[in-house]
Amino acid sequence: MRFLTILIVAFIAITLLSLATCKKKETKEVKIGIIAPITGEAATFGISTKNGAILYFDAVNESGGIDGMMIKYIVEDDRGDPAEGANAYSKLIDQDKVSVICGTVMSKVCLAGAPIAQSKGVPMVSPTSTNPAVTLVGDYIFRACFIDPFQGFVAAKYAIDTVGAKTAAALYDAGNDYTRGLAEVFRAEFPKQGGEMVAFESYATGTTDFNAQLVKIKAVNPDVLFLPNYYNDSGLIAKQAREMGITAQFLGSDGWDSPDLVKIAGDSINGGVFVNHFTPESDVPAAQKFVKDYEAKFGQKPDALGALAYEAAMIIVEAIKVAGSADPKAIRDALAATNMETTTGTIKYDENRNPVKGAVILEVKDGKVYYKTSVNP
Ligand code: PHE
Repeated sequence: MRFLTILIVAFIAITLLSLATCKKKETKEVKIGIIAPITGEAATFGISTKNGAILYFDAVNESGGIDGMMIKYIVEDDRGDPAEGANAYSKLIDQDKVSVICGTVMSKVCLAGAPIAQSKGVPMVSPTSTNPAVTLVGDYIFRACFIDPFQGFVAAKYAIDTVGAKTAAALYDAGNDYTRGLAEVFRAEFPKQGGEMVAFESYATGTTDFNAQLVKIKAVNPDVLFLPNYYNDSGLIAKQAREMGITAQFLGSDGWDSPDLVKIAGDSINGGVFVNHFTPESDVPAAQKFVKDYEAKFGQKPDALGALAYEAAMIIVEAIKVAGSADPKAIRDALAATNMETTTGTIKYDENRNPVKGAVILEVKDGKVYYKTSVNP
């Protein structure tokens, strides 16, 4: 009898022990880095990006993780600065040992971080960097957005077809890969589509007085003024241009996407139009769910940065699921084979790890932003 009791107790003990170890196995985790400019020249970009990514990662964890694997995300602020960005990539990879990185936002910062991710064999998905050179860094570098050759084409097409412009000028930040690259695409596209570039002006990063450039632009009186810059610069330029009597239609790019644009520009930006990736007015069901969830969690409507970060997070989670592990190489291979519906369209990578996606044109009117039209590739 005593022997039997010992046997039963031993059996129970062994069962409990194996259950406990089993449970330990189930709480495996995968570490994901998030990098965004949460402070600095384009802080609204960083906040929206962080929000979009954690909205998705939190939801995955709340529903039990990725096939039982929990996500541990670590957020780094690159302050919109390439050197800070490089530090953030190194820290996440060397110290935190992340399997994959969601980020970063600006092309110029990605161009500093991507070579680090590539050389250390950790894949990254930039939600928003549109400069083509970013993914050309190597086969571990992906993005969730269209690229600037398309964005510049769309801007030129809108200027010609819808505005009816015959002449255009551009003013851009010479120290920013994104603004310079996009301005150059526009300079090539606008004449190709039948228009004439009458001015092509640049300024140094950090400039706040654009008088010298605007005087030259005013002298040639263009129908359209293309401003492919982040919201701070574009807002200031719009204001100073109207103050000196420039009447051109303002045309912008995704870098305009910030609630701060109208705060800086005031009425000057009224009627301005810009190319973007996403509108909360989208009627795609996945996008509507995202808008609803984002508003519920953060108390405001999402912009394109929130949407693309959410989308990058979706792509990353799907790749980890397909890889079935936290191994960076396996995740990279799964990323390359991505084929999924997201909030702004179908993501399938071409040979340079760029998705092919449509754009929207938005208009600033009385301090608000409205959807005008869509342009597909
Ligand atoms: N496309 C910009 C870049 O490459 C970043 C950006 C995307 C900003 C979308 C705003 C909205 O630097």
